[in-house]
Amino acid sequence: MIVVTGATGSIGRALVGRLRGHDVLAVVRRDAEDLGVPYAKADFDRPDTIGGLLNPGDRLFLNSSLWPGYVDAHRAVIDLAARAGVAQIVAVSVRDAEPGAKLGMGMHGAVDAHLRKSGVPWTILQPSGFMQNLPRDFEHGSMYGAYGSTPVNYIDTRDIADVAAALLTAPVGPDRDLVLTGPESLSHDRIAEEIGRALGRPVRYVNLPVPEMTAHLERQGIPQPHAGDLAALMAETGDGRWAATTTAVRDVTGRPPRPLSAFLADHRDAFPA
Ligand SMILES: NC(=O)c1ccc[n+]([C@@H]2O[C@H](COP(=O)([O-])OP(=O)(O)OC[C@H]3O[C@@H](n4cnc5c(N)ncnc54)[C@H](OP(=O)(O)O)[C@@H]3O)[C@@H](O)[C@H]2O)c1
Repeated sequence: MIVVTGATGSIGRALVGRLRGHDVLAVVRRDAEDLGVPYAKADFDRPDTIGGLLNPGDRLFLNSSLWPGYVDAHRAVIDLAARAGVAQIVAVSVRDAEPGAKLGMGMHGAVDAHLRKSGVPWTILQPSGFMQNLPRDFEHGSMYGAYGSTPVNYIDTRDIADVAAALLTAPVGPDRDLVLTGPESLSHDRIAEEIGRALGRPVRYVNLPVPEMTAHLERQGIPQPHAGDLAALMAETGDGRWAATTTAVRDVTGRPPRPLSAFLADHRDAFPA
C-alpha cells in the first residue's frame, strides 16, 4: 500500500490524484471524501496514529507543513515506519536543507539526517520555492519581497507530486536526494511582468530592504523572529543560490517541469483581485 501523509496539501492532493487506481491510503486530519481515495484520520502530533496505519512492505510519502513540533513528530513517524517494515519513504524537504539552518531549512535538515540513518530505503525531495505560494506575496496588486534582482527558481507543486508518484509506483530505487526545480529561473521583476500578463493588468515587484520587509511581514501577521528570518532568507537567496536549475523532474518523470506560464494559466483565480 502507498500511504500518503499531508494528503490534503498542495503536493498531497495532486499526488493522490495521480495514485488513483493504486492501493493507496490518504492520511488526513478531517473527513476528505473529495480526495476520491480511501483515507484514514491521523495526526503527526500523535505519531502513533500514523505508525498504526503502516504495514510491512508499505511505501510512505512523508510530508506536512511545518510547526514547532515538526522535527520530533516526523522523526518519531520515521522510527515507527522502520519498526513496521516500511519498504521506502519518499519525504518532502527543501533545497539547501541543513541542520541548524534558518527556519524550515534547519527543521528539514534535522529530519533528513534522521531519515538517512533510519535503515528504511529513502528518497528525499528537496524542492525550490513553490509557485503556488506566489499569490501570498501580493498586496494591493503589487508583489513584495527582498530578493533583489537575482533570478530565483520556483517549482509547480504538481511537478513534485509527479516525481513522488513515479518513485512510489516504480520498484524501490537507490537512496538519494533529489533537488527539484522548475525549468527556468527568473528575477522577481520578470515574474511580476509574467503575472501581470496572465492577469491582464500591470503588476509591479516592490523590492524592500530587510528591515522594511520584516515590518511588512509582521503587518501580515507573521510574528518575530520568523518575520525577520524570512526577510533575511529572501535577501540571502538574492545571492544566486536558488538560481540553478536541475534536470531531476525530467530524469524521474520523463518530461520537463511546468514553466511559470503554465502555472499562471491554471491559477489566475488564486491571485487577489
Ligand atoms: N512553500 C514553499 O515554497 C516550500 C518550498 C520547499 C519546501 N517546502 C516544504 O513543503 C512542505 C509542505 O508542502 P505542502 O504542499 O504539503 O503544504 P500545504 O499545502 O500547506 O499542506 C500541508 C499538509 O500537511 C498537513 N498537516 C499539517 N500539520 C499536520 C499534522 N500535525 N498532522 C497531519 N497532517 C498535517 C495538512 O493537513 P490539513 O489540511 O489538515 O491542515 C496538509 O495536508 C513543507 O515541509 C515545506 O517546508 C515548501
